[in-house]
Amino acid sequence: MRIFSGIQPTGDKHLGNLIGGFRQYAATQEQGEAFFCIVDLHSITTDYDPADLRERTLDLYAMLLATGLDPTRSTVFAQSHVTAHAEASWLLSAVTSYGQLGRMTQFKDKSMEREFISSGLFTYPVLMAGDILLYQTDIVPIGDDQRQHLELARDIAERFNSRFGWTFVVPKGVYPEVGARIMDLQEPTNKMSTTGGSPQGTVKLLDEPDVIRKKFRSAVTDSGREVCRADDKPGVTNLIDILSVATGKASDAIEAEYGDSGYGPFKTDVGEAVVALVEPIQARYRELRGDPAELLRLLAVGAEKARAASEPTIEAMYSNMGFVRFSR
Ligand code: TYM
Repeated sequence: MRIFSGIQPTGDKHLGNLIGGFRQYAATQEQGEAFFCIVDLHSITTDYDPADLRERTLDLYAMLLATGLDPTRSTVFAQSHVTAHAEASWLLSAVTSYGQLGRMTQFKDKSMEREFISSGLFTYPVLMAGDILLYQTDIVPIGDDQRQHLELARDIAERFNSRFGWTFVVPKGVYPEVGARIMDLQEPTNKMSTTGGSPQGTVKLLDEPDVIRKKFRSAVTDSGREVCRADDKPGVTNLIDILSVATGKASDAIEAEYGDSGYGPFKTDVGEAVVALVEPIQARYRELRGDPAELLRLLAVGAEKARAASEPTIEAMYSNMGFVRFSR
């Protein structure tokens, strides 16, 4: 089975990325042949600083290893190192409609926030579809916010297959049972995000332990005092999900344990559990990030493996679309 997922290097990585993304990557790498891609080409679709992008790419590589990816088992690489990604995006644009792209909620949200809307922001999901399809991917572990993009990738694959002959496996999205959408601690009806969320409500993976504790202590809770999951209690529901993931306890057990003992002790315990979850990751991250030459060496190995794995698909795409090829 082939597994693929991608993550943007820009923006500080946060608890939502860990729970919806990284945690699943480390688990799924055991199930088959896995590819994890630092999607640096996606990161240029909104305003960014080139020097920052360079550093953040190495930061993210170290974080991927610190959260459990094993570069000898999985292929971990940067998107820009494999030129087939940019090529696939252009080829797939022939079977993607303007109307479909305009319906993407992430595009609508992000374009509302800014004055300069790059054309790359609009065609972003086509590049993402290419990332996935190039590896004949069976499953894509992602958070719930990427569901619409994944559905579009499936549509694109089907349209290409029916227009040009069978070329791609049609991938399936895999979402975590708990924590597919971690919410902002201050505005629990919005997803946690370092680009769109509130600074106090976003727990960064590299926040100092005391900063993390404080963010949980001041998390917005809902009316009443009962610790239970409910539609009208988005704040408490989010904290139960986080505690469940951090400790491995089921939500029911958490509800039974805290009952109506009030929100104060509950919030303190969620903070402590998250500190215990991220402290070892932070330590491993610092160690790995201290050796940039080794990170570059590993990135080069990943690029080579990803090039070899994607080459047959990009060739098939060109060939099935009617381009003249020299090989074969
Ligand atoms: P990105 O970089 O925003 O996020 C990386 C992963 O983290 C998940 N995630 C969350 N999960 C739960 N709660 C949250 N608040 C939260 N915020 C982020 C995301 O769902 C994602 O799994 N477009 C993608 C990157 C991408 C990609 C791909 C993903 C490019 N090509 C191909 C999969 C396959 C993105 O911007 O993710």
